[in-house]
Amino acid sequence: MKKIVILISGRGSNMEAIVRAGFPAEIVAVISNRADAAGLRFAAQAGIATRVVDERTFPAREAFEDALADAMEKCSPDLVALAGFMRVLGAGFVRRYSGRMINIHPSLLPAFPGLHTHRRALQEGVKLHGCTVHFVTPEVDHGPIIIQAAVPVRAGDSEAALAARVLQQEHRVYPRAIRWFVEDRLVVENGLVRVNAAGANQSVLAEND
Ligand code: GRF
Repeated sequence: MKKIVILISGRGSNMEAIVRAGFPAEIVAVISNRADAAGLRFAAQAGIATRVVDERTFPAREAFEDALADAMEKCSPDLVALAGFMRVLGAGFVRRYSGRMINIHPSLLPAFPGLHTHRRALQEGVKLHGCTVHFVTPEVDHGPIIIQAAVPVRAGDSEAALAARVLQQEHRVYPRAIRWFVEDRLVVENGLVRVNAAGANQSVLAEND
């Protein structure tokens, strides 16, 4: 059975969606870089081992990443899932987990990498927004795309309303991507991801009316 480690920084609703999805895999630990991450409570209540590697207690990024890698290695993960993990990881760290670390980002990449994606989408007037699950590569928010979900942007949308609409889809597609991974169905060729499963849908369109 494959082992999954989930990294969070806050609320942890994606982690919760992954846990609730119930895979043929073992979620061996939920690790946070912040002691006050609300999601830790849910994980502990679900009987999952939790760990805090508090970034503020380390003098430099290297020391933090060494401690994080140490905590992760103790779990021997087959897959590391970043779920609202709000910390950019260095290239060395990322390469070490190449092909077995994935992330969810709240935009239709390559549009709007980085922060404040919903605000920027509204400012640009895009009519479709969404989320992306992708393999993590050293270039932030740029790795091979596993699945995307698109939602309509509605006239008069607030940042919060749009974020909530996207989050609903995040909770749909992240568990799906992880299932494909644990079932060994993801094939990456020339930076493109295909799913080796009949009828697999890598492009989700949320209803528009
Ligand atoms: C999500 O929108 C995720 O895409 C982004 O940060 C948010 C985290 O939410 N990276 P949660 O902690 O999973 O509830």
